[in-house]
Amino acid sequence: MGLAAGFGLGVNVDHVATIRQARGTIYPDPVLAALEAERAGADLITVHLREDRRHIQEHDVKRLLAVLRVRLNLEMAATSAMVDLAVALRPQDCCLVPERRAELTTEGGLDVRSHESALTGIQRRLEQARIRTAFFVDPDPEMLRCVADLGGRVVELHTGAYAESTNQQEQAEQLRKLCRAAELAWTLGLEVHAGHGLHLDNVSPVAALAPITELNIGHAIVARALFVGMHQAVAEMKACCLAARHSIGDRGS
Ligand code: PXP
Repeated sequence: MGLAAGFGLGVNVDHVATIRQARGTIYPDPVLAALEAERAGADLITVHLREDRRHIQEHDVKRLLAVLRVRLNLEMAATSAMVDLAVALRPQDCCLVPERRAELTTEGGLDVRSHESALTGIQRRLEQARIRTAFFVDPDPEMLRCVADLGGRVVELHTGAYAESTNQQEQAEQLRKLCRAAELAWTLGLEVHAGHGLHLDNVSPVAALAPITELNIGHAIVARALFVGMHQAVAEMKACCLAARHSIGDRGS
């Protein structure tokens, strides 16, 4: 991982494909965007292969796996059809997310407690295929304990409630929740990632949470790339994350 020790920026290129699918063209190509992100310092590339295939397609995943030098993180629903596909495609990483067809984006974390036995089997199959498997969960202590209990190794904390806070007090409370969740996950021996709704103006306090070793950011980077290009949009985000990581060192924690 290239970023300051033990920290990686995952760049999600779904919304490059969203623009392509809006017109059924072959451009813009999310694979070219991913390669540009890689050149700009992305430590991994993330895509969400949704069941309705609204943006990323299977052929995108295959091409990404053929050309990327960094890891590919495949976000997907926890269904047996998607697990079969992941085992056939063999991305390095996988992140299990809840999926509802009518949603605009991933609206909440996985309910690990209600689906513990199914998720245990899914995690086992993916890990047997040597795919590092993360569970996308709300910063809820009970969910983290369930992931640890079922033998999970990685969690991605949903930062949506923090990112969508409408006032400073609420945002500070959501940040405290993320902080407590990240520390608990770390104590439980889990690797801790985070993402959703992060942008240049809200990412620093999350990047500065020491247990968090990976952030996955998509929409804001692709939106910014419309104005400054993909290379600069990724480089700016990485610099912002790095500055926040260095501030941890400055505080001596
Ligand atoms: N992490 C997960 C698990 C996600 O589902 C998403 C959205 O696809 C992201 C991170 C990135 O969110 P955003 O596009 O808001 O940066």
